Amino acid sequence: MYSPDGKSVVGCVECHHTDQPKSALKPPLLTSERDVALTLESWRSSPQKVNECRACHFQDGNVPDGKEMPTATYTDGAKSTKKDLNNELAYHINCNTCHDAAFKLRPELKKKAGFSTSKDCTICHKAN
Ligand code: HEC
Ligand code: HEC
Ligand code: HEC
Ligand code: HEC
Repeated sequence: MYSPDGKSVVGCVECHHTDQPKSALKPPLLTSERDVALTLESWRSSPQKVNECRACHFQDGNVPDGKEMPTATYTDGAKSTKKDLNNELAYHINCNTCHDAAFKLRPELKKKAGFSTSKDCTICHKAN
């Protein structure tokens, strides 16, 4: 998978955002679980496992005892909004923000099998 402009490969931490050092985090991200950024090499040479998104981004109504739903605060000018990042929202923000940016730069991606923008719900959610 590539960056929106198609010029570089997407780094692991674009998705596994807690798998990078605290100093590398950009707002609204705050949480770090790893001192060395996750790459294929650092993953192979470290015993530390990668947490799946579902380990932290729970489904609504399904938050395990003693855990909390992650939240992030988004600032737009003078306005800031705090959002609960359940599983659905975490995936949608992560996948769709980048895909929409890629589509804007490269409209021809629409023809690529499996590629979706945020509006193409049924590509990810197979109609049944
Ligand atoms: C485009 C987003 C994305 C990128 C880039 C990405 N991953 Fe993942 N990765 C995921 C998602 C989403 C899951 C969880 C899969 C699931 O729950 O079905 C996952 C799961 C994993 C798991 C399994 C976790 C478990 O215990 O089940 C490992 C290990 C992993 N990724 C390592 C990597 C490494 C190493 C890289 C970089 C070389 C990388 N990933 C790049 C999205 C990504
Ligand atoms: C260890 C727990 C943990 C794991 C694992 C995790 N997240 Fe998060 N996520 C958080 C927390 C906590 C926040 C709120 C910001 C912060 O504290 O860094 C967050 C924020 C986010 C955001 C909002 C950031 C933004 O820029 O809008 C997205 C999107 C997201 N996570 C997606 C994912 C995806 C996709 C995965 C799996 C590939 C994942 N997260 C794995 C805990 C986690
Ligand atoms: C940082 C950018 C980025 C993120 C995050 C991202 N993608 Fe992509 N994805 C792309 C780009 C760019 C393409 C088009 C591939 C190309 O350039 O040819 C793509 C293509 C795809 C395709 C089409 C098949 C393929 O591999 O080309 C699928 C399926 C896909 N992405 C699923 C996902 C899912 C699911 C997520 C969220 C877990 C996700 N992507 C997150 C950038 C991203
Ligand atoms: C890039 C792929 C992608 C696109 C595009 C997408 N979704 Fe999703 N959606 C996901 C993923 C991944 C999940 C998390 C599913 C899971 O954890 O099993 C999800 C979860 C959901 C859920 C919660 C389902 C549940 O069982 O918890 C709803 C509702 C949903 N999406 C609706 C939509 C709608 C409506 C659209 C179009 C406006 C859309 N999605 C576009 C990938 C996508």
